[in-house]
Amino acid sequence: MENQEATTRGIWGSKVAFIFAATGSAIGLGNIWRFPTVVSQNGGAVFVLVYILAVAFIGFTVMLAELTLGRHSQRNPVGAIDHIKPGSPWKFIGYLGILTGVFILSFYAVVAGWAAGYVFKAVSGAFQGELTAEMSNQIFTDFSSDPLQVFIFFALMMGLTIFIISKGVKKGIEKWTKILMPALFLLIVLLAVRALTLPGAGQGLSFYLNPDFSKLNGTVILFAVGQAFFSLSLGMGTMITYGSYISKSDNLVSSAGWVSFADTFVALLAGLIIFPTLVSFGQPVDVGGEGLAFQIFPLILSKLPGGYIFGILFFTLLTVAALTSTISLLEVPVSYLVDEKNWSRKKAVWVIGIFTFILGIPSALSTGAVEFFTKIKFLGFIAFAFGNISLAVGALFICVFVGYIWGWKKAIKEIASGNPRFRLRFIWVFSLMFLTPIAILFILYFIKTLRG
Ligand code: PFF
Repeated sequence: MENQEATTRGIWGSKVAFIFAATGSAIGLGNIWRFPTVVSQNGGAVFVLVYILAVAFIGFTVMLAELTLGRHSQRNPVGAIDHIKPGSPWKFIGYLGILTGVFILSFYAVVAGWAAGYVFKAVSGAFQGELTAEMSNQIFTDFSSDPLQVFIFFALMMGLTIFIISKGVKKGIEKWTKILMPALFLLIVLLAVRALTLPGAGQGLSFYLNPDFSKLNGTVILFAVGQAFFSLSLGMGTMITYGSYISKSDNLVSSAGWVSFADTFVALLAGLIIFPTLVSFGQPVDVGGEGLAFQIFPLILSKLPGGYIFGILFFTLLTVAALTSTISLLEVPVSYLVDEKNWSRKKAVWVIGIFTFILGIPSALSTGAVEFFTKIKFLGFIAFAFGNISLAVGALFICVFVGYIWGWKKAIKEIASGNPRFRLRFIWVFSLMFLTPIAILFILYFIKTLRG
């Protein structure tokens, strides 16, 4: 097993190990960096409401579909589809997923680099004393527009990802996630408690939790559903790949439920920190940009007794949370090359890793370093095109493939091997075959309403 694992594929040590790894993939910058930003830009509480519905009805459906397909075929996304429909063009779903993953990783590792850079800022004491919102914004601007710093940390995150992935599934991924994810969770709870007791917290909470339905429109729904896919790591085959390492006796339904729940819980907590803090520091709640989380977390940390240590801890754990997501992003193309093209794990990891790094250069230069990339908001554009639209398209085809091409009856049979009763099966099948595909077509239609 050990040997086989180093060269080809392994199996999770236990169901718990899988859940930690899948939760590690899901929880990351999407929850702490991107979620508050999209909430801020899309009307606040009404977005949160649509988001929760999207996770419960659409996200869960796709998650279970991906895990089922993965476990049944024991393969990467391309191989999984080829296994079920040999030689058919449906394989393009897998290729689309691989392409999407590489593009997502290219900007994600840049932002992960910001988190790593902030560990050093925290160590240097930059977030201490009477920190004001203006000072914190300046720290972010200085950092994110300095190409040297951004590149060093971007390269560091890519390097760490390459290193961990080249060591194989079990040894690489399991070891990290088991200890550090719970630590991050505890720290976020602590920060949320502090934020909720700030003066002005109520007003921030009202924007976040009290929906104003006049702000509901197609763009809000488009971003909420896209964010659900991004945050749950769906639509590009990550969960197919992770599912391929699950044992036949595990319960896929409860696994999908748990991962969706934990991921959503953390995102909601991040919002509970950001919005009260914004109001308390006299900042508008609805103009969040790419730097929002990086500008606001230092402020709340500065309000915490022991904030120096907690600051170091917070950005370290955020970096680790990002890493458990970057490794899941890189694992998809790597498992494809290893399984289907017989590449060695090392070669696959290095080739894709270096390619992704080059692809990420414009994103790294788009927060102030190079005017052209900054003006066209390159990072934001790639995040939207691949982290939103492409994932939605991928999820649509995964539902169609599992529901109609492979066939829902066979999928149910696969699920039954670890969950013979599966009470929600008819609801799931309905969502898989009708609700989710129609909802995705509906949101894709709203792309045309976007401006700027
Ligand atoms: N779910 C991750 C996050 O929220 O940070 C990002 C991500 C990882 C998206 C893996 C897609 C993916 F396949």
